[in-house]
Amino acid sequence: MTKRLKVIQWATGNVGGESLKAVLMHPQLELVGLRVYSSDKNGIDAGQLCGMPDTGIRATTDSQKIIDTEADCVVYMPRHASIDEVCALLSSGKNVISTAFLFYAESLPAEEREKLRKACIQGKSSVHGTGIHPGFVGMVLPLALSGMSRTIEEIHIQEKADWTYYASPRITFDNMRFGYPKEEATLAANAFARFNAGIFEEQIWMLAAALGLELDEVCTEQDLIVTPTAYDVPVGRVEANTVCAQGYQWRGRVGDDHPIAIDALWTLGGEYPAHWDKPREGWTITVEGEPSFRTHFLPAASFRRRDLAIEEHVHASDIATAMQAVNSIPALCLAETGLRGTFELNQTYAGIGFRR
Ligand SMILES: NC(=O)c1ccc[n+]([C@@H]2O[C@H](COP(=O)([O-])OP(=O)(O)OC[C@H]3O[C@@H](n4cnc5c(N)ncnc54)[C@H](OP(=O)(O)O)[C@@H]3O)[C@@H](O)[C@H]2O)c1
Repeated sequence: MTKRLKVIQWATGNVGGESLKAVLMHPQLELVGLRVYSSDKNGIDAGQLCGMPDTGIRATTDSQKIIDTEADCVVYMPRHASIDEVCALLSSGKNVISTAFLFYAESLPAEEREKLRKACIQGKSSVHGTGIHPGFVGMVLPLALSGMSRTIEEIHIQEKADWTYYASPRITFDNMRFGYPKEEATLAANAFARFNAGIFEEQIWMLAAALGLELDEVCTEQDLIVTPTAYDVPVGRVEANTVCAQGYQWRGRVGDDHPIAIDALWTLGGEYPAHWDKPREGWTITVEGEPSFRTHFLPAASFRRRDLAIEEHVHASDIATAMQAVNSIPALCLAETGLRGTFELNQTYAGIGFRR
């Protein structure tokens, strides 16, 4: 058997908890460290934090202890991401896979890009960001479809999603500002919305770089909808005259053309805005070219079982996000040092697969 890759799990939220379990199950990976934030998780065995047998690896809130631990890769899944933190990990010699940001770090502002690059050179390491979206839907899947095209004219990705059962209410309310007055949720007012817009823009830059398109710019437009009446959702309350739906359009522009486009049509319960497009729930990916392709992508906890609650189907996207990252660890560890986009890694597939 080849030597297993040493892995550190960073954060154990909805995504991180699933990732931790997968690292423990994966035949090519060995858990060597676990970073948590909550003091009540500090010192707890990693196995206990994800419903697995004890491992002997205890969670720690001490970042420095993690930076000082030798490992091949860190799976970085905190709620608030930090470039400085990632640079410290990279320069200590560990590759980093993030679900939080760095989806195509080559497109970041020069100062951040150079900081990351320097850290990679110092640690002979590499960094990559992935997940379900950003990640699989906006980068892996369009690239896979493009493999059957001779030429491409346009790529369009649409996401239609209701955040009602998303189990991270702090991200829904505090970060995305659903349930806030409109003026507090605009791109100008909400730093997280700008950060979030940036990670979707990165996907457009990555597709352009991979497929030979020189873009003039990538721009973001936001359409905030407020509810006239208050209502409750499982994760909280949306008061009257606050934001109940958020539409985003990300466009890669070349002259007057927009050959790469991503739309997000996000609601939080309530009425679906009448003026919005009405694609199917989930993701629709269209590649217009010679020839053209369209696929509809919908994750679910199971297509066979009928006894599952809606929350379990929603949580399937967290598992998918975690697995896209965990399954990319071997490819990243083989990749060239530096900032690595999806097109620069070997194809990702299930490392655990049929094994139990
Ligand atoms: N690319 C994608 O497709 C995709 C999809 C879903 C989520 N995400 C991203 O992946 C990350 C994890 O998502 P999630 O759903 O697991 O979020 P979550 O359930 O809200 O959990 C995030 C974890 O962050 C940790 N945390 C607590 N306080 C923190 C602080 N002050 N700064 C940083 N981290 C803190 C906690 O760790 P402990 O509980 O371990 O103490 C918490 O469990 C987020 O950045 C999210 O935006 C990406």
